[in-house]
Amino acid sequence: MAPSNQRPTRVPQSMSRYARALELIPGGTQLVSRRPNRVAYGVSPIYAARAQGARFWDVDGFEYIDWISGIGSILLGYADPVVDAAVKQQIDRGLGYSVNHELEIELAEELCRCFPSAEMVRYAKCGGEACAMAVRIARGATGRDKVLFCGYHGWHDWYLAANLDAAASLNAHLFPGIEPIGVPTALAGTAIPFPYDDLNALAELLDQHRGEIAAVIMEPLRSEWPAEGYLAGVSQLAGEHQAVLIFDEVSTGLRYGMGGVQGRLGVTPDLTVLAKSLSNGYPMAAVVGRRDVMAPAARMFISSTYWSDPIGLTAALTTLRECRRRQVSEQIESFGARLKVALNTVAAEIGCPVVCSGTDQHPHLAFQLMDSLQRSQVTTLYIQEMAKRGCHGYASFYLNAAQGDLELQQTTAAARATFQIITQALESGAVADRLECDLQQDAFRRLVQ
Ligand SMILES: Cc1ncc(COP(=O)(O)O)c(C=O)c1O
Repeated sequence: MAPSNQRPTRVPQSMSRYARALELIPGGTQLVSRRPNRVAYGVSPIYAARAQGARFWDVDGFEYIDWISGIGSILLGYADPVVDAAVKQQIDRGLGYSVNHELEIELAEELCRCFPSAEMVRYAKCGGEACAMAVRIARGATGRDKVLFCGYHGWHDWYLAANLDAAASLNAHLFPGIEPIGVPTALAGTAIPFPYDDLNALAELLDQHRGEIAAVIMEPLRSEWPAEGYLAGVSQLAGEHQAVLIFDEVSTGLRYGMGGVQGRLGVTPDLTVLAKSLSNGYPMAAVVGRRDVMAPAARMFISSTYWSDPIGLTAALTTLRECRRRQVSEQIESFGARLKVALNTVAAEIGCPVVCSGTDQHPHLAFQLMDSLQRSQVTTLYIQEMAKRGCHGYASFYLNAAQGDLELQQTTAAARATFQIITQALESGAVADRLECDLQQDAFRRLVQ
């Protein structure tokens, strides 16, 4: 991805590394959310040098508050001393043993204590991989093929198969314009999206595919709470159709409490997928679930060398215990509520047409502009000006427990200056002139809010 013109850049070291990456790495990055067109290309950092607590330093020497928290994978803060000390101790005991380690059992016991749906546990390393595992288990347990889904669940064939079917295209739900290149066409019709917070739509799909649905997999929420009774309704419908209900709590999980969203809302799925919110940045994932659904997995071929890795097990176990000890979800929730109030107060004082809403755990900004191009320009201008003031993020906030008063103050001051620039630019019709980068691209259009 080259910039549309040769503007001077604020981050030359990042830009030169990215030019090399594009030569060597198809797509430039390993994760779409780390592509520089997600933020202010040429202004925002592309390469980090190190991170600590709520902050990171880029290869150009700038310091940033990280409002993306490792795309959600950092919950306690970067380089958390307790988690890292436990991991370092484990490194000294060796890795990759030829036999098993009892940490597998210890973490499974802890997960079963925390998550209402957990009676048995399997491990993986990534969220998408664990979703694929959960879908395999559901298909194996029910003997059915089709899957209804709602939200983002990774890159695997079972999910991207939805884009093979023009009528049920992921275009409206994931990346606009994504092609299911390399996904077997034989999978067409096996993954079908359903809209969030719409029980009738789900009921109709279940009726239409009666007796064929193995699983209903969904993010229980993304950044808004569901309507009262919605998740209970989904659970009831899935039960009536003998479909396995899977909550993908990869991004929510411990952020919403020690029992995840299911613990908060009192709706227990059959299976739960956990990953990014589990292990403070160390690769680790789990599928947990009810014994009768999980047990058939013993007969399925679900097997990988690195799933037993004691680093991930140690990181997850220590993160879980630290989240409980430090009451992390409560802390994040009250911090998010303060952040929303602070940003809304500044916006009102300045008269900037923006509202900060969403759950307290995952606030987001929405610029109240009718014209979609103008909205996109203003969102990019926001990201650009916040980056110049040491705040790295999208127009949404992934919180972690290392963010505190200092980050709140610095971000509110940066937002004040940024909202002023935006308001003046809107008044003078000069938004495009203020942009020092191409328009930011939204990586995901999600089914859930
Ligand atoms: C809800 C959800 N499911 C699955 C995934 C995929 O996880 P990973 O990127 O670890 O494969 C993500 C990642 O953003 C996610 O948010």
